[in-house]
Amino acid sequence: MKDSVAERIESLRAEIRRHERLYYVLDQPEISDAEYDTLMRELQAIEKAHPELLTPDSPTQRVGGKPREGFVKVRHSAPMLSLDNALNEGELRDFDRRVRDLLAGAEFRYVAELKMDGLSMAAHYEDGLLRLAITRGDGVEGEDVTENARTIRALPLRVKPPVPRFEVRGEVVMPRRYFDRLNEEREKEGLMKYANPRNSAAGSLRVLEPWITASRKLDYFAYFFLVDGKPYYPSHWQSLEALERLGFKVNPNRKQCVDVDELYHVCRQWEARREEFPYEIDGVVAKVDSVSQQDSLGWTAKAPRWAIAYKFPAQQAETVVENIEVQVGRTGALTPVAHLRPVFVSGVTVSRATLHNEDEIERLNLHIGDTVVVERSGDVIPKVVRVVRHGSERRAFRMPKQCPVCGGDVVRAEGEAASRCINSNCPARLKETVRFFASRGVMDIDGMGEALVDQLVDRGLVKSVADVYGLTLEQLMELERMGEKSATKILQNVESSRGQPLARLLNGLGIPFVGERTAQILADTFGDLDKIAAADADLLQTAEEVGPKVAESIRRFFRERHNQELVERLRAAGLRFTQEVRNHAAQGVLAGKTFVLTGTLPTMSREEAKAKIEAAGGKVTGSVSKKTSYVIAGEEAGSKLAKAEELGIPVLNEDGMMRLIGGQTV
Ligand code: IVH
Repeated sequence: MKDSVAERIESLRAEIRRHERLYYVLDQPEISDAEYDTLMRELQAIEKAHPELLTPDSPTQRVGGKPREGFVKVRHSAPMLSLDNALNEGELRDFDRRVRDLLAGAEFRYVAELKMDGLSMAAHYEDGLLRLAITRGDGVEGEDVTENARTIRALPLRVKPPVPRFEVRGEVVMPRRYFDRLNEEREKEGLMKYANPRNSAAGSLRVLEPWITASRKLDYFAYFFLVDGKPYYPSHWQSLEALERLGFKVNPNRKQCVDVDELYHVCRQWEARREEFPYEIDGVVAKVDSVSQQDSLGWTAKAPRWAIAYKFPAQQAETVVENIEVQVGRTGALTPVAHLRPVFVSGVTVSRATLHNEDEIERLNLHIGDTVVVERSGDVIPKVVRVVRHGSERRAFRMPKQCPVCGGDVVRAEGEAASRCINSNCPARLKETVRFFASRGVMDIDGMGEALVDQLVDRGLVKSVADVYGLTLEQLMELERMGEKSATKILQNVESSRGQPLARLLNGLGIPFVGERTAQILADTFGDLDKIAAADADLLQTAEEVGPKVAESIRRFFRERHNQELVERLRAAGLRFTQEVRNHAAQGVLAGKTFVLTGTLPTMSREEAKAKIEAAGGKVTGSVSKKTSYVIAGEEAGSKLAKAEELGIPVLNEDGMMRLIGGQTV
């Protein structure tokens, strides 16, 4: 029986791994997401019933349950240095000349690769298993981010290696579309947006909670295969091919070039296609292919002499800040926006740029009338990079004390970067709120876009999102550019939005710090809007990922009278307030297991051990019974140990406990 379970587990794992590779590495899925989920669920169920068969390389074990206290510094096998840059064709040719001189006329080839704009990371494998992932850090020492790196699906947890120990180096990137989505989400939740995909990739890899990294959809492209800090294969090209065979994702945009002319041609070709790639690239890396030639070229103190980064010209331009205005967002946050003298930046005319908040303006030392450099990277809103010249009649920007839309008070809370209009009836806030409520990812009321919402709010037809459900055909038909047909259609869409699931409604309420994901977790955990509205902060925090700040924000929202009224009106409108409870808590390795601690453990206090067990989903109780799964015993364990032995309950020492938490068999 055991054997057949073990066999089923292994075949499921192999199948899931194959599909993960097809999906995440090769981008050629063979099955639907739903079919993949079914396989995953079956594996999870079997592993739950047989925790002794859990292994850390199981596809279910990408996301560990426990947040960490900090990152440990680890030394690299060999320094992770950076690259010298060539900023134009001339500098690229200078580099080539140096290489040719040093190689004294010997034949050689370059390998050209995209220079992805992310952060480099080393991944160490032992006996085919991913053991350690380290950020570049200062190049000599980086941070151990293994648990977070495990959540990157393009990074295999297990491979069939040609050698017992090896190291892969490559680039962690955040694809542009996830970056955009993340920033939208952060904006909704009132959080600072990331400036570019590189920062968000770095930020996502360095969070203490692996499940956050998991939700951020990072990608990993491998470009070095090292053993003991040195290239293993005789040429770089061979390394790339070997990495690909092993199951790593290697960027398909790579080319062997016979000379600098071909190399430069490739640089120009990729530069022209720059916007097509799903992630940001900031240039082309050229490496001498042969490793023995690399060795003879050697290194300077900070970079190899055998490689260069050809940087694409920055997508920047100079212009004048003609004015700074503030915009009022859904949460009441006031965002200063620079109005620019229109300027052409990489194919687009830019006339506005966000300045985020007061601190940013101060950091830039920006005044109205200054000449600035603006930059456009990918789909990101243009931003002001720096001031190049002060205007002769420069004027300082002051955050208004009154909301420019409603005249309500503007407050900047302690420790927050944003200033906010605190009038919850502010029309600017209301418009943003209604627009968001009706948007596709929320209540999905097709046709209720910006222009319609503006009219509805301006004419006083909508004073709260609940009013959307009271709109009549006559009211709509009085609006500009609205015929009977489209008005009827909109009312139908309003009607069908009543059936949207609870999570969407919760998201649509616009509770600060509650975005799509948190709303889903709350809905899954409590299953009932009334329960969430009545919950105290402690109860709210029993939901995954909900900390004190979010809990307090939810509690405050539902304590306000006008929000209580809103809830009642939405209830009367027949919206869905309940759903089935699905325990969203990441099922830890120890879920369903009960532990008893006894005696003195060698390296940790009992409180620490308890916290570790609980973080992995287990429960700790005080006395041994038939229901106890394991007893963890240290020095001088007394009667509890005796009782365990009497009942035949497995007894582990601290080491055994840690192995169990690590998902290993004990
Ligand atoms: S080779 C010593 N290859 O660019 C060798 N780096 O400016 C250095 N990068 O730290 C790495 N794509 O973060 C290499 N195809 C690629 C790359 C790449 C992006 C990054 C990497 C590195 C930085 C150097």
